[in-house]
Amino acid sequence: MLSPNSTTQSLAQHARAIFREHFGNDATHVAVAPGRVNLIGEHIDYCDGFVLPFAIERMVVIAAAPNGSSEARVATAFDPEGAVFSVTEDQKIADPKWSNYLRGVVQGFRNRGIAVPGFDAFIVSSLPGGAGLSSSAALECAVATLLESLTGVKLETREKALLAQKAEHDFAGVPCGIMDQFASAFGKDGQLVLIDCRSTDVELVPFTDPSLTILVSNTKVSHELSDGGYAARRRSTEDGLAAIGKSSWRDVSPEDLESASSAMSEVTFRRSRHVVGEITRTMGAVDALKQGSFSKLGQLMYESHNSLRDDFEVSCPELDHLVATASEIGTAGGVIGARMTGGGFGGSTVTLCETAKAEAIAAALVKSYEATFGFAPEIFSSRPAEGARIIED
Ligand code: GLA
Repeated sequence: MLSPNSTTQSLAQHARAIFREHFGNDATHVAVAPGRVNLIGEHIDYCDGFVLPFAIERMVVIAAAPNGSSEARVATAFDPEGAVFSVTEDQKIADPKWSNYLRGVVQGFRNRGIAVPGFDAFIVSSLPGGAGLSSSAALECAVATLLESLTGVKLETREKALLAQKAEHDFAGVPCGIMDQFASAFGKDGQLVLIDCRSTDVELVPFTDPSLTILVSNTKVSHELSDGGYAARRRSTEDGLAAIGKSSWRDVSPEDLESASSAMSEVTFRRSRHVVGEITRTMGAVDALKQGSFSKLGQLMYESHNSLRDDFEVSCPELDHLVATASEIGTAGGVIGARMTGGGFGGSTVTLCETAKAEAIAAALVKSYEATFGFAPEIFSSRPAEGARIIED
């Protein structure tokens, strides 16, 4: 019940088959890029913080082939009519909305002087959209990986992730940090992706203990990120840093924040307190992981959630309910820690638990959630998975 709903190979085969049906010829390139969950370090990737996401076993797959024209013809399972646009001109935002992720990435290649050939592509996905699992970053990274293959120009992984992030900024209007695209691009089997968002250095942290499971619980509610909540939070952190008078959050101590408290509003103070606390918690979580101190990690996850709920105010009743239920099940029932993951305002939680009890925990979460909200969350487990890549036959 908890395993991923399809393997990479089966999804790739499915994409090839639909491509053939749709375009009448065989796909020559298949690119895949995963979504992500974040174990800890939330809303601090745009504050020079540390974040600890990993790529999950849910992904976007694109089957494609050059079409000998100067146009991209792209379609998806949910919009088979799709979009057609020129790849030899500068890109503009246009309908359908989802096509802007492709247009943005094509523009990123054009900006680097890399000519993109016309191509046909069919996109399939095992990632729920609007679930806080970075389906848009996965699409951007899958397109970038496909274009590397189609153009024969391989970018450095960091550059590819930054190109994908710029597509999100310029073509989707979300001023996101670097976490999602970095997790999708740098993900490795059995490894968490520790990102230093000031230097953009990446360190892989092993997470392979089979006695531990990570459950992802999708509330199935999404209170849209692009409606301004995300950008407003980001602006508050900029206001906070300006009031403190430092150039990076990494140089701000709790004492610096206290002494600047009268120079900022009460709300900005709380937003800032989240940033300072979350950077410390994330570093603590990495130490706890390296020492195998999982109860410490679990405690930091709960503290992170409380801070996101009370100080940063990006949680919602559905997320709070799942975390509270996990915490009630507690260590006796096999739960080590839980928190909301991703941008918030809906989306998913991440629950660290004992593998032997994971099925029972998932069942208890579903039961309690359904009794409260009248519909079931979607719960699955995921191990840290491989990042964006080309799938060979
Ligand atoms: C979204 C953004 C990320 C990050 C998270 C919150 O997923 O795309 O850059 O800011 O929210 O941690």
